[in-house]
Amino acid sequence: MRPQRVERTVDKMVIEGGHRLEGEVSVSGAKNAALPLLAASLLTGEELRLENVPELGDVRTMVHLLRRMGARAESPQPHTFSLQAQELTATEAPYELVKTMRASVLVLGPLVGRFGRARVSLPGGCSIGSRPITLPPVGLAKMGAEIELRHGYVEARCKRLKGAWIFLETPSVTGIENLMMAASLAEGETVLENAAREPEVCDLADLLVSMGARIEGAGSERIRIEGVKELKGGSHRIIPDRIEAGTLMVAAGITRGDVLIREAKAEHMQVMMEKLVEAGMDIRLEAKGIRASMEDRPRPVNVKTLPYPGFPTDMQAQIMALVSLARGRSIISETVFENRFMHVNELNRMGAQIQVEGNTALVVGTSELSGAPVMATDLRASASLVLAGLAAKGSTCISRIYHLDRGYEAMERKLASLGAVIQRVRE
Ligand code: EPU
Repeated sequence: MRPQRVERTVDKMVIEGGHRLEGEVSVSGAKNAALPLLAASLLTGEELRLENVPELGDVRTMVHLLRRMGARAESPQPHTFSLQAQELTATEAPYELVKTMRASVLVLGPLVGRFGRARVSLPGGCSIGSRPITLPPVGLAKMGAEIELRHGYVEARCKRLKGAWIFLETPSVTGIENLMMAASLAEGETVLENAAREPEVCDLADLLVSMGARIEGAGSERIRIEGVKELKGGSHRIIPDRIEAGTLMVAAGITRGDVLIREAKAEHMQVMMEKLVEAGMDIRLEAKGIRASMEDRPRPVNVKTLPYPGFPTDMQAQIMALVSLARGRSIISETVFENRFMHVNELNRMGAQIQVEGNTALVVGTSELSGAPVMATDLRASASLVLAGLAAKGSTCISRIYHLDRGYEAMERKLASLGAVIQRVRE
């Protein structure tokens, strides 16, 4: 089959800073829940209906991958997908797709679990860290699959996976999701120790249980899965995106605005909200969502990123933009990924005073940022540049905005609806 191109635009974002954000905005479905849930459609021949699917570059890539393997994936209305993987024509995730989106490896577990075979490219390096994909192949081997690494691909084969006790050296999110999907169709019991506890892992477990899987303990460090022979279809609504919600909260704060983020779920964002309050934001839970506002200059905060329930690495760049304007010094340590400070040089070009030493950034707050041409380097780095641009004096032009489009749905429309002066322009 000829590889189809997943479209990437070369748009830029131009922001005229200094406008206070005010109003109400809705948060979209969670990208990092949508991706594994889409992959879970491979676990059954019956129809799976997903609602609240965000319209994003990464979702399009996953849907494209499912279709390439012969699955049916239709979107009868915006944010809804109907998926069916009765018979597949291929059980392969090719390099061209995996290199554009690492989360493509999420198809490995479901393919081996249901079809007993898969060929999935290894993604190689990544702009935020080396991010090895070791856990799923090691876990599948423990469950009895024959695993070979050939020509840059993981090739897995088995008759039927067998339950196993698996200790995960790192609580990898996509690692646990892969193994949870595989174990749902294995023979006997699988115990996953040191499991990731992210809300997205729980959302996947909820979907799998509704499809007939027998899973206990999702959200804790130990997940037990009693394999079943087959899973059925179903319908599921994806949880709201806690990182998009957090990004919008910072947008309210950094412009000294007042924004109600509809549908945001406070229980998924406890530590993040504590840090934002420490930074001087006023956060209130209302019936419709979370209201975030800020009147004064931010206060400095120290932040250390950690696996859930700790402060999420996916919000590190955004809170850094906020405290770059604080009255005082903040220390931000990144412990999840080794190279996730690519936004620092760009923020410094806008007048921030940030110094990086190893995995720690010292942010000396400044009273003003100034607009500049900057370049997005990854998804969350792009978000921090948008936030800095909203607060900066003058105009900020962010190139390579396709990084932002991978993970934020209609960000500029949402921000413009709150009063931001922001425009997408074609290069
Ligand atoms: N790791 C290993 N071995 C493995 C897998 C991971 O050592 O086999 C290490 C990684 O190198 C990293 C740490 O474990 O240092 C955590 O990585 P993890 O595997 O948990 O990350 P991931 O599953 O690849 C997901 C999100 C990321 C998010 C991280 C951490 C999805 C699709 N992606 O990635 O999201 O940063 O968890 O929370 O769920 C983003 O949305 O911007 C994003 C990068």
